[in-house]
Amino acid sequence: MASQPVRVGLIGAGFISDQYLTNMTRYPDLRVVAVGDLFEERAKQQAETYGVARGGSPESVIDDPEVELIVNLTVPAAHGPIATQALERGKHVWNEKPLTTDLDSSSRLVELADEKGLFLGCAPDTFLGAGIQTTLRLIAEGAIGRPLTAQGIMQNPGPERWHPDPAFIFGPGVGPLFDIGPYYLTTLVQALGPVRSVSALSSIAHPVRTVRVGSKAGQEIEVQVATHTAALIQFSEGAQAQTTFSYDAELQREGFLEIIGTEGTLVAPDPNHFEGEIRILRDGRDPEVIPVPSRGTGRGVGAVDMARAIRTGSPVRATGRLGHYVLQVETAIQTAADERRVVDVDAAFTPSPLLPEDWSPTERTV
Ligand SMILES: NC(=O)c1ccc[n+]([C@@H]2O[C@H](COP(=O)([O-])OP(=O)(O)OC[C@H]3O[C@@H](n4cnc5c(N)ncnc54)[C@H](O)[C@@H]3O)[C@@H](O)[C@H]2O)c1
Repeated sequence: MASQPVRVGLIGAGFISDQYLTNMTRYPDLRVVAVGDLFEERAKQQAETYGVARGGSPESVIDDPEVELIVNLTVPAAHGPIATQALERGKHVWNEKPLTTDLDSSSRLVELADEKGLFLGCAPDTFLGAGIQTTLRLIAEGAIGRPLTAQGIMQNPGPERWHPDPAFIFGPGVGPLFDIGPYYLTTLVQALGPVRSVSALSSIAHPVRTVRVGSKAGQEIEVQVATHTAALIQFSEGAQAQTTFSYDAELQREGFLEIIGTEGTLVAPDPNHFEGEIRILRDGRDPEVIPVPSRGTGRGVGAVDMARAIRTGSPVRATGRLGHYVLQVETAIQTAADERRVVDVDAAFTPSPLLPEDWSPTERTV
């Protein structure tokens, strides 16, 4: 018989919080009970908009005795400190990506969660959508034979065109490699296994960016991180990939992810989305098109997966360990670009188990 939904406290009531709050307030295995932000008014406003009982400071959420799981949607520099405080207070944590902005703090976070016996999760949870889950299942079942090479591209003119407060995206430990790389690299390591080594080139087109929208329009941002990174990735099991992550391109090209195998080529749906369409091309024939319908998934499904683990002991897929591993790969790519050399990725990694095919976040299961 059902127990009760996992009680969530959300911290970081900014741009992406609307998507999380829209979804998490309708997923029955979660109950959002508090929203926090450095700007308490912003937290109160979001709480009111989404019918959440309490809005206030980040501390009020972390100390809230009702809260079991903190969903941390703060800017990357605050991911580590907020998650650490939450784990110290005995709360499970779901962090937006990147897990933190450096490997020392991210590995400390993984260790702290282990020490405390608490769950630590990390975005992206887009790979839990039916689009990428079906892609991973098809590849594992041999739909394209043995995977050989992959190509991933996400390029656009930069978040200052649409984000009202994009300075953090040009700060240390972010940039397109760490901001959008996680969608593609998470999917690639889930599909192709651990990374052996990487090489890369990176550049900065404009040392200063100007906010284009919102109340900060006209403000200048000093760019502190590469805004274009191209990487070559060698996977331990033999496959290779090439990826481009860029905020320097006037031509927007997103969701480009293709995997070439010995028996065919699979065109994956956008790894930054939850559904889409898969195309498989084989032997000169017309592409086989596999539509992947939405099963009500959206940002927040990683927290649902974790909630079910908290109540039932089922596995968590979008783990902090996976987020840390992806950060290790991204850091190796950055080092390879900075030092113009091939960098080995010397870390163990096991892909997360697939979700059951009929998995749905909109069902009440706990
Ligand atoms: N914007 C997107 O489309 C998008 C998509 C997916 C993931 N993300 C990720 O979500 C996170 C947040 O992004 P965003 O675009 O919503 O940023 P944002 O700047 O709009 O919002 C961040 C919020 O966190 C608050 N905050 C900052 N430091 C804090 C602290 N120490 N304690 C409490 N609150 C704090 C800010 O006041 C702000 O309200 C980032 O990690 C980003 O990578 C963003």
